[in-house]
Amino acid sequence: MSAGDQDVVELLTTDHHEVLDLLSRIPGADPARRRDMADTVIAELMRHSVAEEMYVYPAMRDHLPDGESKVQHDVEEHQQLEEVMKELESIDAADPRFLEALGRLEAVLRDHVSDEERDQFPLLRAQLSAEQLVDMGQKVETAKKAAPTRPHPAAPHSELFHKLVGPGVGMVDRMRDKLTGRSTSA
Ligand SMILES: [Fe+2]
Ligand SMILES: [Fe+2]
Repeated sequence: MSAGDQDVVELLTTDHHEVLDLLSRIPGADPARRRDMADTVIAELMRHSVAEEMYVYPAMRDHLPDGESKVQHDVEEHQQLEEVMKELESIDAADPRFLEALGRLEAVLRDHVSDEERDQFPLLRAQLSAEQLVDMGQKVETAKKAAPTRPHPAAPHSELFHKLVGPGVGMVDRMRDKLTGRSTSA
């Protein structure tokens, strides 16, 4: 099955577990590799969150009971994640504060992922057809390719921002990634 046939819930759930798995391996990794691993976590999490806010949260807002407040809660958690990622970006991987910030990122992320997977995703899946879920999966895949790869916590985090400005920010991030030799996929 190509990634294009994946339903959005499977796709996002796979993302969650890949990021959490990588994150949990950083403390035990060779200190020289920690920076690269953390940068990959940051890039993947940014792409994931922006794509969710563009295509998945609006559908949750429309279809879930109490959707508006659930989405608001989720967006606040994305903002918290982004702030910790910004901090993590500026701390040297050899600094003890690096692992401390990483631990905070993991705690917020685990909580956020569990809200989405236990509560919101099953409700969303129950409301949409298989075709709609696959279609949303394709949109998410495409959005992830153009999304920012670095945290921008000071920028407005609205859906509109990501639709209008997001791809531009993503392109600038990719240029910086290239110039600094930072390895991020896609
Ligand atoms: Fe998610
Ligand atoms: Fe999320």
